[in-house]
Amino acid sequence: MQKRFLGDSGLEVSVIALGTWAMGGAVETWGQVDDRESIAAIHQALDLGINLVDTAPIYGLGHSEEIVGKAIQGRRSEVLVATKCGLLFPKSNDELPPRCLSRESVVRECEDSLRRLRTDVIDVYQCHWPDPETHIRETMDALTTLLEQGKIRAIGLSNFSCEQMTAAREFGPVHCLQSPLSMLQLRAAEDLIPYCIEHRIGVLTYGPLAKGLLTGKFGKDSRFEGIRSQDPEFVGERYRRNLGMVDRLGKIAADYDKTVTQLVINWTASFRGVTAPIVGAKRPSQVVENAGGVGWTITEEDRARIDAIIRS
Ligand SMILES: NC(=O)c1ccc[n+]([C@@H]2O[C@H](COP(=O)([O-])OP(=O)(O)OC[C@H]3O[C@@H](n4cnc5c(N)ncnc54)[C@H](OP(=O)(O)O)[C@@H]3O)[C@@H](O)[C@H]2O)c1
Repeated sequence: MQKRFLGDSGLEVSVIALGTWAMGGAVETWGQVDDRESIAAIHQALDLGINLVDTAPIYGLGHSEEIVGKAIQGRRSEVLVATKCGLLFPKSNDELPPRCLSRESVVRECEDSLRRLRTDVIDVYQCHWPDPETHIRETMDALTTLLEQGKIRAIGLSNFSCEQMTAAREFGPVHCLQSPLSMLQLRAAEDLIPYCIEHRIGVLTYGPLAKGLLTGKFGKDSRFEGIRSQDPEFVGERYRRNLGMVDRLGKIAADYDKTVTQLVINWTASFRGVTAPIVGAKRPSQVVENAGGVGWTITEEDRARIDAIIRS
């Protein structure tokens, strides 16, 4: 598996990362998840040379981190663990996770994550979402202290704008950005990715498969629950347009003897400025297919055909 440097952090990450949000096991979000399958999926990823695993405390209120912690026992040297801070656990199901990036909260969250992950260092520690109530100087002070103490190895920002990254960089190093990017969600290409290229910041992109919509497994009669039912890409005319797009992409994928999922992953992993897309999975078979999305090249001509399909 090919690797790339994550900004100037010194860390070398595989060109695709494994996302573990669904492994948090919140049934109302991602449906049924089996912990043994989740652990097997993480082992499968490591076996295939995927060395970056992304999680967060909020994914299943600690459960995703605990699963990652179990899976990496005995294999810690093969893996770079990326987790996050800044979204606290809501008190009820109706409440959104409160945002908090105060010094005290970041330090406490880091200790909680280290315990759940059963490790003494977090490789990539990312602010999950900006916190408008806390000055970024305080947050960056806390993160740089954790870096100096050796509790984290790289600082990341997730869902930050260019202006917010500039503000953060005044007070400490920013090694990577995590931002959405898929064939259906190209906003990051407008300003965030060019900004990261200019400032040598690594780019981890999330949602490359658009919650599975770009895998070709859904059809016009599919019905959705949980996280997908709240996503406009899965509704009405937009959904029908997306299915048409997947169909046309599938024809290009077939020319390479690849699945549409693999074509989509390849396109994302080779997007200029992207260090690695974070591909979510629940089971080993998905990881095997997804790993087959890299290690080959889409021709310039086909890239242009894909761009035309995306724009149509
Ligand atoms: N920083 C942030 O705010 C943020 C936000 C979102 C995500 N993330 C990170 O990015 C990761 C990826 O994003 P995501 O999970 O939202 O979306 P995604 O990677 O676009 O989609 C993942 C889902 O697609 C389905 N899938 C995966 N491989 C498949 C395959 N080969 N065949 C068929 N279906 C397959 C699985 O769902 P089913 O098995 O249920 O069909 C899987 O859970 C997350 O796990 C998380 O680590 C970060």
